[in-house]
Amino acid sequence: MPSVRSSDDVVLFSEERSEQVVTRSFDATPDARLREVLQSLVRHLHAFAKEVDLSQPELDAAIDFLTRTGQKCDDVRQEFVLLSDVLGMSMLVDTITNRASGSATESTVLGPFHMVDSPPRQLGEDIAQGRSGEQTLVTGQVLGDDGSPLPGATIDVWQADDQGFYDVQLPDRVPQGNLRGLFTCDEDGRFRFRTIMPAPYPIPQDGPVGELLAATRRHPNRPAHIHFIAGAVGYAPLTTHIFVAGSPYLDSDAVFGVKESLVVDFAVVRDGDMVAEHAMPVPFRHTHVELRLRSAR
Ligand code: BEZ
Ligand code: FE
Repeated sequence: MPSVRSSDDVVLFSEERSEQVVTRSFDATPDARLREVLQSLVRHLHAFAKEVDLSQPELDAAIDFLTRTGQKCDDVRQEFVLLSDVLGMSMLVDTITNRASGSATESTVLGPFHMVDSPPRQLGEDIAQGRSGEQTLVTGQVLGDDGSPLPGATIDVWQADDQGFYDVQLPDRVPQGNLRGLFTCDEDGRFRFRTIMPAPYPIPQDGPVGELLAATRRHPNRPAHIHFIAGAVGYAPLTTHIFVAGSPYLDSDAVFGVKESLVVDFAVVRDGDMVAEHAMPVPFRHTHVELRLRSAR
């Protein structure tokens, strides 16, 4: 057997020195950020394994879990994003990214259901396209973080139906694009659309992430919400939701996406100017949303 010559700069692997040996193996990484991230990852992974005394069967189970997570992914299913969501990583990275948002609207997770393009629609159009549910009017305005209206801003919206399903989950019953819309705001940055009230729903549970939630007795539900991506030239795109005030699971969202500022009332409207102005069937629910974008400069 060839022997390893010991010298001052050769350090062989041992439990005590594992971080040192493995981080050193990345010392020559030319990309400084890649080096920083990998070396930090190694330090934390090794510290974690030592803290919990990780056993070989447990490592094998983790590798099997991650393998099956990858195998569950396809064009319309992203199990790794879901895993990141339920571990709070998606929200943590989103929060770090948007740390200094000032007076801009708070962001939240994108989620896995923005995988199809929203159909362009006219202001005022019904994104539910006549589907049954509690009739709802959403009005709003896109503003800069200094409060100035942003003419021609765009909003991309998508939501689940009154049973908690997205169009892509009901391909045989619902045309793709249902409960989705891409709108261009008017000269005052205003928008409006018709829809139905969204219901709370469980995130997909038929994969490894579902197993994880079941094994840990965590529920899979998200509170009722509508997704938005707002954009305007010169401003950072805003990915967020509005959550329905009073919805179940606001205090225990399976993906930790709720922020207090994003919870809004959907008032019941029975009469008044809005009925005539928007030609809505009464009664209907209404909410008004201000989306403030952060200047990209
Ligand atoms: C969603 O809101 O569409 C969503 C977000 C994270 C995980 C699953 C679904
Ligand atoms: Fe959603």
